[in-house]
Amino acid sequence: MGARWPASREHSTAWSDNPIRAAIQRHFEARWLLEMGGPVTGGHALEVGCGRGVGIELIFDVFGADRVDAFDLDMAMVRRAQRRVAQRGGHVRLWIGDVTRITSDDDTYDAVFDFGILHHVPAWRTAIAEVYRVLKPGGRLYAEEMLAGLILHPVWRRLLDHPIEDRFDCAEFTEELERVGFGVVSTREHHGHAAWFVAQKGEDDALEV
Ligand SMILES: C[S@@+](CC[C@H](N)C(=O)[O-])C[C@H]1O[C@@H](n2cnc3c(N)ncnc32)[C@H](O)[C@@H]1O
Repeated sequence: MGARWPASREHSTAWSDNPIRAAIQRHFEARWLLEMGGPVTGGHALEVGCGRGVGIELIFDVFGADRVDAFDLDMAMVRRAQRRVAQRGGHVRLWIGDVTRITSDDDTYDAVFDFGILHHVPAWRTAIAEVYRVLKPGGRLYAEEMLAGLILHPVWRRLLDHPIEDRFDCAEFTEELERVGFGVVSTREHHGHAAWFVAQKGEDDALEV
């Protein structure tokens, strides 16, 4: 069972769904991922767990994608994302979906973006395999994730609502990426609490940007 997004999630939502988080995403995290993995100029990208759609804007504005598909498990989030990106017209396609069962065909995307969702997903290993499947050869995963060090910390554990079994640190997430076939291009970690990853599906995946 991959999907879990509990009803009692107010703290988690407040944490991820506010203007400060959006500003950090735009001015720091997206820039770090761009430096780590390069742009997706003119490409076709997927965002998994798009929330209210801030990431979709960044994929266009910071990474230069031409088309963005995006989904979220939560219908209310998909509706908010629809309103946020309405002016992008036919360049965006949105749906309700589960990252452990992505409905896109194999080898579809130039890039897949995960802005902080896989630590919410019990079957995160299945999700990584799904992301690998839908990327084109040579396509890249850009991921920002919360690590076990934060999720299992006694204070944060009381405040935030995350699954707590089989959470990952930077090394375990990297190992899983490599196990499904990715080459890890770059990683960045902050104090065992958060990490950023760029990984590539393909033969020249050892190349640095
Ligand atoms: C912390 S929020 C991040 C939202 C957005 N990516 C952002 O950065 O603002 C996590 C999101 O993951 C979604 N989510 C949780 N489990 C999911 C799953 N199995 N498949 C797709 N989305 C999921 C939630 O509904 C929620 O919108």
